[in-house]
Amino acid sequence: MILGIIVLIIVSAVTIFLSISFYITIFGGGPFVPTPMISVHKVLKAAKIKKGDKVYDIGAGDGRFVHFASKDYGANGVGFEMDPFVYFIAKMRQKFWKWKGKIIYGDFQKHSLKDADVLVCYMMPRTLAKFQKKFDKELKKGTKIVSYGFHIGSWKPKKVIKKEGKIAQIFIYQVS
Ligand SMILES: C[S@@+](CC[C@H](N)C(=O)[O-])C[C@H]1O[C@@H](n2cnc3c(N)ncnc32)[C@H](O)[C@@H]1O
Repeated sequence: MILGIIVLIIVSAVTIFLSISFYITIFGGGPFVPTPMISVHKVLKAAKIKKGDKVYDIGAGDGRFVHFASKDYGANGVGFEMDPFVYFIAKMRQKFWKWKGKIIYGDFQKHSLKDADVLVCYMMPRTLAKFQKKFDKELKKGTKIVSYGFHIGSWKPKKVIKKEGKIAQIFIYQVS
């Protein structure tokens, strides 16, 4: 009897987890795959963040970009995360590891990006192309967009940093 309940709880939890991941893959920007730390630092360096810059990560994961942008560059880091499990991990990182920045639960598409100075992303190219319209509409002149791994729709990058070992390509754009 107890074993049956435990199995039922595990199966339910796995089903909920897979359903949420499936939903995010279809309607969001793809599932949680953390950027390797070495790449996080390279992306942030490439973004040339200034103290006080508003830095958004549109799919924050555990909040690593937001944390290091805030801690190492004095940025006002804000991340959006729509997966409740991953959001929980990000909040735990902040609570127990004292990670910095602000993590907002939900779909970034429901939030305005008009005050962004820097936007970082690590998402599937198919969905980045879909988000391009929102970026074109909201991002102000001068905003830097640094995309780890994938290009953004029909945008022409200002610079592409080539793949180097485990560090994937980095695409840098600037709104003109
Ligand atoms: C590939 S992971 C990258 C995580 C983190 N930025 C990193 O680089 O380690 C993409 C994350 O974006 C989240 N995500 C996808 N679509 C989203 C959306 N529309 N709004 C907010 N978060 C989203 C996913 O749940 C996932 O955690």
